[in-house]
Amino acid sequence: MDFHPWVIMVIALISFKIFFLFNNALRNTGFNENYTVTLGNQHVLFLNQGREVQLSLDRSSGAGFQSKEYFGSGYFQMRIKLPDKDSAGVVTAFYISTTTNSYGTDTKLYTVHLPLVANDGGRSKANYSNVPFQAHFRDFNIDGCPSIPTNPNKECHSTKYWWNGKKYNHLNPNQLKAYENVRKKYMTYDYCADRRRYPTPPPECIR
Ligand SMILES: *[C@@H]1O[C@H](CO)[C@@H](O)[C@H](O)[C@H]1NC(C)=O
Repeated sequence: MDFHPWVIMVIALISFKIFFLFNNALRNTGFNENYTVTLGNQHVLFLNQGREVQLSLDRSSGAGFQSKEYFGSGYFQMRIKLPDKDSAGVVTAFYISTTTNSYGTDTKLYTVHLPLVANDGGRSKANYSNVPFQAHFRDFNIDGCPSIPTNPNKECHSTKYWWNGKKYNHLNPNQLKAYENVRKKYMTYDYCADRRRYPTPPPECIR
């Protein structure tokens, strides 16, 4: 029996919807599953059943959180909404810190929302008449291979993990273009290019 084209279309739409619901549920990991607050408990607000976190910065404190585990490899992401006011002098960062082990490195993920240590060559000071500065974070899923620095997981570099595939070693031309567009449009300062402050660029600047 043949299906009428609109029946096929409806089936396709339903499958599409199911795929997205399923995918969304998978990606919709709660904060507590993977992360823990490490700084400024009173300045952390959980929204939307822990699917979103707001970090506030005022005169008394900033806030931050980190991944519970170390990872030997992974594909890490975080959706971040920066403060909507003039927040010069405020750092909102998602970064990794690595520990060397016998197979390579183990990585922990961190966020901080703090008054600035160094940007614009230290020219900008936070304008505290704008407090609280609020930053929002979403997407607490971590695609990673857990490892323990004192007992590294040597499986983490195997190709059984999709992010170890060659195509994830570098940005593809479209991603590179998107990245360069964002730099051009929104970046006002790059410490890697600040030769006055860093005559020798810090190691993470070399690529
Ligand atoms: C600080 O922010 C307030 C309120 O937005 C503004 O009126 C003031 O000019 C700002 N001060 C500086 C030094 O930018």
